[in-house]
Amino acid sequence: MLRITALKKHYAGEPQPALDGIDLQVESGEMLVILGRSGAGKSTLIRSLNRLVEPDSGTVEWKGTAVTGLRGEQLRLVRGRMAMIFQNDDLLPKLDVLTNVMVGAFTEMPRWRSLLFAFTAEHRKRAEEALRKVGLQGKGRKRPDELSGGQKQRVAIARSLMQKPELLLGDEPVASLDPVTSVQIMELLSHLHRTEGLTLLLNLHDVELARRYGKRIIGLAGGRIVFDGPPESLDDAALQRIYPPDAE
Ligand SMILES: Nc1ncnc2c1ncn2[C@@H]1O[C@H](COP(=O)(O)OP(=O)(O)OP(=O)(O)O)[C@@H](O)[C@H]1O
Ligand SMILES: [Mg+2]
Repeated sequence: MLRITALKKHYAGEPQPALDGIDLQVESGEMLVILGRSGAGKSTLIRSLNRLVEPDSGTVEWKGTAVTGLRGEQLRLVRGRMAMIFQNDDLLPKLDVLTNVMVGAFTEMPRWRSLLFAFTAEHRKRAEEALRKVGLQGKGRKRPDELSGGQKQRVAIARSLMQKPELLLGDEPVASLDPVTSVQIMELLSHLHRTEGLTLLLNLHDVELARRYGKRIIGLAGGRIVFDGPPESLDDAALQRIYPPDAE
């Protein structure tokens, strides 16, 4: 469903490329975890897929369409199918939880409606359903600052479900949570992967979480793929390649 070919990105002024020729194919229904030390290119890779980062060369094909060639409305539609969650929740602090979730429908709404936050009864119903799926039923009237970190990440996940995504991209979705909450959020993502048929691509810093939840692990170092395999194959030699001691 996703075919990445010879993808390169070199940020201006940086000595090394962030992505140095990435070739990767992801099938529908995979749960893929990307590991790599800081600066390996994990975020750049994830963000290149929906063009939050503009790659220099190479292609990203999504269900046969070259995302790297899209503009305007076409790009917006593809972005709608690829939801994204981040390390720090990016909820709108002045709006209640339900409205924050409904924001996920922006990608399918005419621009004027989203500018006015003119949601429909159907949006509200879907948002309530999404909150139920993340275990936050009844919390729609709360404001983000009344929630814990884990609950806020659940709201961000509910917002992404509102997009009816086929692909969920997570850039270190549990990095700012405590270990217990991290496991709870990974359990939730794993559950949604199974029940909603979501294809997941997650950057993680935690090798143990990657082993436990990743069905396929990609190791990045210096903008290149240095490991691609199941968690059982992630042995010491592989970890040495992914986390080279002399990289910094
Ligand atoms: N906007 C930017 N401008 C310039 N250089 C950047 C930018 N974003 C990332 N880089 C550089 O590109 C390289 C890869 O960064 P990236 O953020 O993709 O790594 P990462 O694996 O996500 O790291 P971390 O684990 O710290 O999040 C790094 O050398 C980084 O300094
Ligand atoms: Mg990063």
